[in-house]
Amino acid sequence: MQKLKVDFVDVEFINEQESKPQNSESVSSSSKFLAPPSKGKFDIRKSESRAILPDYNKPIEFFISSDASSVVEHTKKVLFLEDDDIAHIDAGELHIHRARKSAGMSTTRPVQTLEMQLAEIMRGGYDHFMMKEIFEQPDSTYNTMRGRIDFKNKTVTLGGIKDYLTSIRRSRRFQMIACGTSYHSCLAVRSLFEELTEAPVSVDLASDFLDRSPPIFRDDTVIFVSQSGETADSMQCLKYCRAAGALTVGVVNSVGSSISRDTDCGVHINAGPEIGVASTKAYTSQYIALVMIALQISNHVITTAARHKEIIQGLSEIPKKIEKVLKQSEHIKEISQKYLHGRDSMLIVGRGYQFASALEGALKIKEISYIHAEGIQAGELKHGVLALVDDKLPIVAFATQDSFSPKVNSALQQITAREGHPIIICTEGDNIIDRSKASAMIEVPQTIDCLQGLINIVPLQMMGYYLSISAGNNPDRPRNLAKSVTVE
Ligand code: G6P
Repeated sequence: MQKLKVDFVDVEFINEQESKPQNSESVSSSSKFLAPPSKGKFDIRKSESRAILPDYNKPIEFFISSDASSVVEHTKKVLFLEDDDIAHIDAGELHIHRARKSAGMSTTRPVQTLEMQLAEIMRGGYDHFMMKEIFEQPDSTYNTMRGRIDFKNKTVTLGGIKDYLTSIRRSRRFQMIACGTSYHSCLAVRSLFEELTEAPVSVDLASDFLDRSPPIFRDDTVIFVSQSGETADSMQCLKYCRAAGALTVGVVNSVGSSISRDTDCGVHINAGPEIGVASTKAYTSQYIALVMIALQISNHVITTAARHKEIIQGLSEIPKKIEKVLKQSEHIKEISQKYLHGRDSMLIVGRGYQFASALEGALKIKEISYIHAEGIQAGELKHGVLALVDDKLPIVAFATQDSFSPKVNSALQQITAREGHPIIICTEGDNIIDRSKASAMIEVPQTIDCLQGLINIVPLQMMGYYLSISAGNNPDRPRNLAKSVTVE
């Protein structure tokens, strides 16, 4: 067996007694919020590859983290490891080794002092957490899939539900329960769940489920979706379903939260902390987690194999496609300011897979811009909503191509025939939609029908953000709302 080859790295400590840093040479880009190191003022411990930290009072605690922001409440002294560094902590001593020697690679690792406040560090250069979280989605969606999808062999393995698969597959029906944005992620995957599992799937708002107290059976699988894992209404439903003997599955972002502890099994969405009250990256990650659950449950069914492959291929391209939408932020900002800012009310229209996008898009807009926005199922226009349509009411319509396109085009005609001028979200290069009567077009990359909502929601998240800013609101802290609603 080949031995791991290591060599040593020095750790530098600022000798704080001697002086404060003198020059302002910048450090690596990942540490742009740190105090710059000063040359010649370090107490360098050479050759031993160890840092016993004698300058600090014992006992010494080490925190290991992928993000300095997560430890800043405990310490402001931070040492960033480089690629291929191996940190070994033993009996209060830190040793840093190199797995590989690369030319030009520095062999010193300065212990640096975090200067900025916790909140600023975590915002990472963005004005608001919400924007940071919107822009994190190429990474957060990838993180949800990482280690779970084998893109080469097109398989999904969810360690958190693997042992319960037999019971889950025996379920006579699936019940999904959630609140707010999490509820919309359930709606977004409902038809895919029905298609792949061939079982009935109900989706309920937790508060409504509690009001109804519907029958739940031992052979039901109930899926609880929650970013925080602490939402009181969802927790109450969990108690109710457990008492009824159903198998309970959690789809949660916060590790160690009540829902992740109290469900029988589940999947962490691994989106990373979401601070903005308006949920963004949790939505796309919940959506993907639920798609993966549907794939895992049905992966023994031969007839769905081709569909599985197509979906997994589609998932592999999602981060890049979201990135492409994010590049249109200026275009989306202009549209928001020109056609939506200062309005009292607007409609967001979609059908099929995009009905959930319409509801979630409307929620994003109303919760942070305080403009009334209503998500409409396009097929319902003629059952009342058309009465609102005129040349003034702003309308955003999802019209990306899928099997529902003919019906969506007919809805667009119903709108334009009443002098409506919708903002249309369509597939890149679409040449079917009549653009002549649209106020504006937003073209987004195409993906598999059941995944298109992951792409389509991003412009709406950005519209909500820009409308909130234009109105002078703080999108991270909308009035009257809380991130985790722990009361019923
Ligand atoms: C609150 C938040 C929403 C969130 C909902 C459900 O209303 O403001 O952003 O979607 O709770 O929260 P959960 O943590 O259960 O997903």
